[in-house]
Amino acid sequence: MNLKKLPHEELERRWFEKTLYQDMTVFPTMSDHPAFHHFIVSKIRELVPNASEETGVEIGPGHNPVLPALPFKKMLFVDLSKPLAGNLQNTMIPIRRDAPDRGFDYVPFSKLAQGRSIAVVGDIRRLPLSVEKKAGLIVVNNVLTHIKPGERNKVVAGLAEKTRALLIVDNHYESKLEIRARLRNFAEMVQKSLSLQPESKEKQERMHRSEKYLHPTKQMLESEQQKMVNVKNIKRELAENGWKVATSIVRHPLQKIVILQARRS
Ligand SMILES: C[S@@+](CC[C@H](N)C(=O)[O-])C[C@H]1O[C@@H](n2cnc3c(N)ncnc32)[C@H](O)[C@@H]1O
Repeated sequence: MNLKKLPHEELERRWFEKTLYQDMTVFPTMSDHPAFHHFIVSKIRELVPNASEETGVEIGPGHNPVLPALPFKKMLFVDLSKPLAGNLQNTMIPIRRDAPDRGFDYVPFSKLAQGRSIAVVGDIRRLPLSVEKKAGLIVVNNVLTHIKPGERNKVVAGLAEKTRALLIVDNHYESKLEIRARLRNFAEMVQKSLSLQPESKEKQERMHRSEKYLHPTKQMLESEQQKMVNVKNIKRELAENGWKVATSIVRHPLQKIVILQARRS
């Protein structure tokens, strides 16, 4: 299924359900932007400078795996979606050029991973990893948002048992005021682009929906807030268990992203 074809109400209803992703093939994410993809890779490099000696695990790589950009000894990819896990070998990885003009080359996953990777269908709540043989790194990029807020700490604690370093990238927890401002920016952007389009039923529907973003209900604000990941709690729990944790925030008019880097101290 292509996410763009899923009715908006259905996307909202299934946000925390496995059925959202199990047959999903295409959906837009921040990691579609090569510069953002590269930024995550740079955060991994800081966390695991000796990748060639380590096993890296990426959960929910979707169509944007980040691990292949680095020379991990072994890579394990775990995704809830069977079509996505099956298609990983055919994805293209943006690699920053070394040339003065910079830009990116798109290199096939299969070329970069060269038989060093395995992709399986699985759930972040029940990872096929032993607690004894820890991974060098687990990456969770834009996946925790789909775990209910009350379950996130437990999921992260489960990951922490199975790795020596952890990278979490997700929507940052925002106040209702910030969410309101973000929805307004989004609505104004949609309305600007729609103003150039001819009248149609689809245009009217999208205009109508954007009005709702300009004047969100309390329920809408709460539902948006549930999708955000509050790393404060995660950071505290990891620190209490002897982890060294750093967080950074990337601001974008339509999104605020948090990056949590954690290492066993
Ligand atoms: C929003 S996409 C992010 C994909 C990619 N990491 C990116 O940033 O472009 C979420 C991905 O996580 C996977 N996913 C969702 N829930 C999951 C779960 N409980 N366990 C493992 N993977 C999951 C989905 O199938 C999807 O590929």
